[in-house]
Amino acid sequence: MPAAVSGRLLTRNINMASSHQHQQPPRASSRALPVINIGRLGDNDPAARALVVQDIARACRDRGCFQVINHGVSKSVMNGALEAASEFFDMSTEHKEAFASDDIRGPIRYDTSARDGISKCRSFLKHYANPLQDWVKFWPKQPASYRKKMGMYAVEIQRLSVQLTGAIMQGLGLGPMYLQEKLGAGLQFMALNNYPQGSSQAGDTVGLAPHSDYGFITILMQSSPGLEVMHHDDDAWTPVPAIPGALHVHLGDHMEVLSNGRLRSLLHRAILNTDEARISIASLHGVAIDEKVSCAEELVDERHPKLYRESSFHDFLDFLPTNVNTYRRFVETLKFDRA
Ligand code: OGA
Ligand code: NI
Repeated sequence: MPAAVSGRLLTRNINMASSHQHQQPPRASSRALPVINIGRLGDNDPAARALVVQDIARACRDRGCFQVINHGVSKSVMNGALEAASEFFDMSTEHKEAFASDDIRGPIRYDTSARDGISKCRSFLKHYANPLQDWVKFWPKQPASYRKKMGMYAVEIQRLSVQLTGAIMQGLGLGPMYLQEKLGAGLQFMALNNYPQGSSQAGDTVGLAPHSDYGFITILMQSSPGLEVMHHDDDAWTPVPAIPGALHVHLGDHMEVLSNGRLRSLLHRAILNTDEARISIASLHGVAIDEKVSCAEELVDERHPKLYRESSFHDFLDFLPTNVNTYRRFVETLKFDRA
């Protein structure tokens, strides 16, 4: 079954499983995705900050994702990370396979196969990054600049993730400091993805099948277009344009849990780019590996009963081997049965 079809079925299942049916006709997926200038998020002027927070809150609610510009991560740091990733993937198979591992709990893992059920046509390197001094020792020593370039990017993206989650928490009415410390000291998990050029005759070829990400938010940089998103009431895939200098942000399963369903995690996939090979770097952000996340008590009341059971990143890792080729969002398995 082509992944596009399975993605649509999946979305329909998700909608059917939700507590209300959508009466409105499906929204056109061609609506432009929001691009938000976050330059004034760090502003001392609370009114200027509030406007940005409002834009972010709306984007999270309506689309589950947005792109940010004026985010403070320099072009040279961004390009450095893409170069480091590209140089790593250009190295010999032997060098890369030194990082191959069956242990999904390992600190670093390289793979080219579809064993995970969602990698259709990609190779990837995954590793942790925060705090950098704990994890960098597991990273590749070659290419020689890898640790420096990827490390600079990881630190900047971690900083940005704390700033953005603060804004999202404020938008939820929980206040900008809600979970800041736990997220600041929390998990940063990076996935470097390498996709071959697609054939223009073959039509859309899926590199990475539909899924939602673990954690609160993912910040993603792509070297060229290929990422596609489908929010819960969309009925088709929307391509995410590769805007030079912008970073794409989307919501993960734990944001859905924390917000008690006010926000939803975003279904997304990657298709092969028919013009060129493509690299993306996804950085997933959450609380510590063993920390349980539950619905914020402030967002639970008689009209909004608790929708999800608590879970940790470890629970997610236990779920992964059970989800091969089923494309369920982890968060679906956390829903209380209220039938
Ligand atoms: C991921 C992911 C999308 C892409 O790594 O989780 O969704 O564009 N990547 O590579
Ligand atoms: Ni993803």
